[in-house]
Amino acid sequence: MSKLFEPLTLRGVTIRNRTMVAPMCMYEAKDGLANDFHLVHLGRYALGGWGLVMMEASAVEQRGRITHGDVGIWSDDHIEPLRRIASFLKAQGAVAGIQLGHAGRKASVQRPYEGDGPLGSAQLAKGELPWEVVGPGTTPFDEGWITPHALAVSELQDIKQSFCDAVLRAQAAGFDVIELHAAHGYLLHSFLSPLTNKREDKYGGDRDDRFRFPLEVAAAMRNLWPSDLPMFVRVSATDWVDGGIQVDDTVEFAKALREIGIDLMDCSTGGLTPRAQVPLSFGFQVPFAESVKREANIPTSAVGLITDPQLAEQIITEGKADMIAVAREALANPNWALNALSALNEGGNSEFDGWPRAYKIWLAKRERALQSIANA
Ligand code: FNR
Repeated sequence: MSKLFEPLTLRGVTIRNRTMVAPMCMYEAKDGLANDFHLVHLGRYALGGWGLVMMEASAVEQRGRITHGDVGIWSDDHIEPLRRIASFLKAQGAVAGIQLGHAGRKASVQRPYEGDGPLGSAQLAKGELPWEVVGPGTTPFDEGWITPHALAVSELQDIKQSFCDAVLRAQAAGFDVIELHAAHGYLLHSFLSPLTNKREDKYGGDRDDRFRFPLEVAAAMRNLWPSDLPMFVRVSATDWVDGGIQVDDTVEFAKALREIGIDLMDCSTGGLTPRAQVPLSFGFQVPFAESVKREANIPTSAVGLITDPQLAEQIITEGKADMIAVAREALANPNWALNALSALNEGGNSEFDGWPRAYKIWLAKRERALQSIANA
């Protein structure tokens, strides 16, 4: 029996298998409102047998968008289109998750398909103007990027409140899981890392002080989110730069998160600085999920170039992570989970387990037709 396809129960939620579609910003929203594109894009994964489908990073305040096309959750108007998506995902047997984020000093940039970096003349001509970006201090992400406004303590409280309001909206929209985005150089990651947090107040300095704001946010969210529903945190387990976050720091952060009731650490890496050198290989971030799981004693998910079902199976079997998150491979192959189920089951999947019930007899007929042509 495949371990990848064993259910996982976290609090009151049972996920049908260990596969998760990683959060992926599509930059296709207008005014932060999710639309039919998001419904169909994510709906394919629910039909494709994935266990958990994570809605892309959704901005808890307008300044916290990466681009003008980000999905948002900063107003009650955002709830209804999100509710439609969560409801479809759940009706198809998937668990519906949503990542809640704030882009911090990496906000106010072009959509990736327009360019890489601050808004240019083409966007300004369409009336897509830059906005104030915020961070722990005033150092921009890169040369030519907007200089952030250094957040005062009272402003941190306002941002924490925005995360809390977003939690209640995610609940109203019917999601089963929320994931706090504390990775990839966005606002909370920039508080965690010594490379970007040079504050001299209680929110900067030594490790505990750098952890303080992200932990305050996570604890306030966990308090509001229903106790029978799980909450994940996504981190960059290393900055891949000397003097930045190392896995030991992430283990300590995970221990503190476990204490406040976080259910799973989604272990990514990098994104803080363009100077990072990332050694790519299949499953290259798995060792981080493994260390955090073992040393902080908390469930983890592994992500990053996990494309082969056998590799995914091995990670779960060897106890290195509890879930496998997949991003780009899922774009290429929305039925990856169902195909993995066939590949990992000896004798295939002749009953078409997991496929939508409306497809099953047609898939069986297709099999027989193909077989009869092959035999002719
Ligand atoms: C991403 N990624 C990402 N991560 C995140 O935490 N929140 C997000 O909204 C996004 N957005 C996003 C958009 C797109 C188009 C891609 C390709 C990626 C990162 C993603 O979740 C994942 O960690 C990486 O892509 C590595 O996994 P894969 O692609 O190798 O499976």
